[in-house]
Amino acid sequence: MRIGLPKEIKDNENRVGMTPGAVKALTRRGHQVLVQTGAGAGSSLSDEEYLSAGAEIVPYAEDAWAAQMVVKVKEPIASEYQYLRPDLILFTYLHLASDKPLTDALLASGTTGIAYETVQTGTGQLPLLTPMSEVAGRMATQVGATYLQKSHGGRGVLMGGVPGVAPANVVILGAGIVGTNAARVAVGLGAQVTVLDISHDRLKYLDDIYRGQLQTRISDEYNIEEVICEADLVIGAVLIPGGRAPWLITRNMLPTMPKGSSLLMWPLIKAGAWKPLTQPPIAIRLMKSMAWCITVLPTCREPFLVPVPLPLTTKQRSIHSILPMKAWKLCVKLRLCNMALIPTVAG
Ligand SMILES: NC(=O)c1ccc[n+]([C@@H]2O[C@H](COP(=O)([O-])OP(=O)(O)OC[C@H]3O[C@@H](n4cnc5c(N)ncnc54)[C@H](O)[C@@H]3O)[C@@H](O)[C@H]2O)c1
Repeated sequence: MRIGLPKEIKDNENRVGMTPGAVKALTRRGHQVLVQTGAGAGSSLSDEEYLSAGAEIVPYAEDAWAAQMVVKVKEPIASEYQYLRPDLILFTYLHLASDKPLTDALLASGTTGIAYETVQTGTGQLPLLTPMSEVAGRMATQVGATYLQKSHGGRGVLMGGVPGVAPANVVILGAGIVGTNAARVAVGLGAQVTVLDISHDRLKYLDDIYRGQLQTRISDEYNIEEVICEADLVIGAVLIPGGRAPWLITRNMLPTMPKGSSLLMWPLIKAGAWKPLTQPPIAIRLMKSMAWCITVLPTCREPFLVPVPLPLTTKQRSIHSILPMKAWKLCVKLRLCNMALIPTVAG
């Protein structure tokens, strides 16, 4: 099969759909991989690395898009709709729920679109979404620690404190993948960490793992109000599957927060008409705090990190190897994937 790897052109997107390692796994099985020149540059991966993995370097996006299957990271943007066609299999994050123009374009073109975010294991896990949340969670604490520095407009608090001075107080809303990974780094840095979730199971898990190194609280308005007024850093990591994340921090909670505190990763703040913003990170002064709005945390900070776990997990699910060899219809038949994960099939 011919597989195309075009360069991502969405604003601020530095990731690439496949590492040279993933390309090698395909070329070793006899597939032809067409990599657009510079596709890996944003992730510090050179054309030479792809060449030595057996890829063919092609000069233009249309050359990579002409392949039978295209592997990307982000959904196609409007200028890429021209490449959609009935005999194309597109394997990428699609997030169609919030993108009607793309949904229409995919359906009109008849493209078979397989969205990473819908690939599920038999136990309902999302193996292609998890790596991004792991990166985002760990980075959230790292980035938050930077924003607490005075030079970045923060409170001038050291995460781990020093003998005689208290550590930073970190509040994490949501104990899923992002929250757990954010907590792991915050505990590692020596911060005082409180994690809130509505799921008792998630809190029990963290409580068992950390054995008193962090506190857990059930997430309700009373508890959020109580912890937020002492928080140096608040990390939002809440998700309602298929729904909009709830607004957990209300306008009247903001004045209670310490001066120079930081809030990271939204949409969690109910502040009138204020809406979550796009990349690059944008800071808004919210009363005494700074809100850092980062919708694509993994890519704008550590793009090199991202392509590594992505193909690893896709390989784990054998998708990179199975799709080209047996095609998606056979995958469905063999229950290697199910129809629910194919948002558009031939229109
Ligand atoms: N900015 C980025 O780059 C980036 C990257 C990955 C994920 N995210 C976002 O991070 C969030 C978390 O993702 P995840 O992968 O950890 O999801 P997840 O499903 O693993 O975890 C979400 C958690 O939120 C909890 N939750 C639901 N309602 C809650 C409430 N009212 N109060 C407290 N907790 C509540 C759930 O019980 C669950 O444990 C999502 O909104 C996701 O879009 C952002």
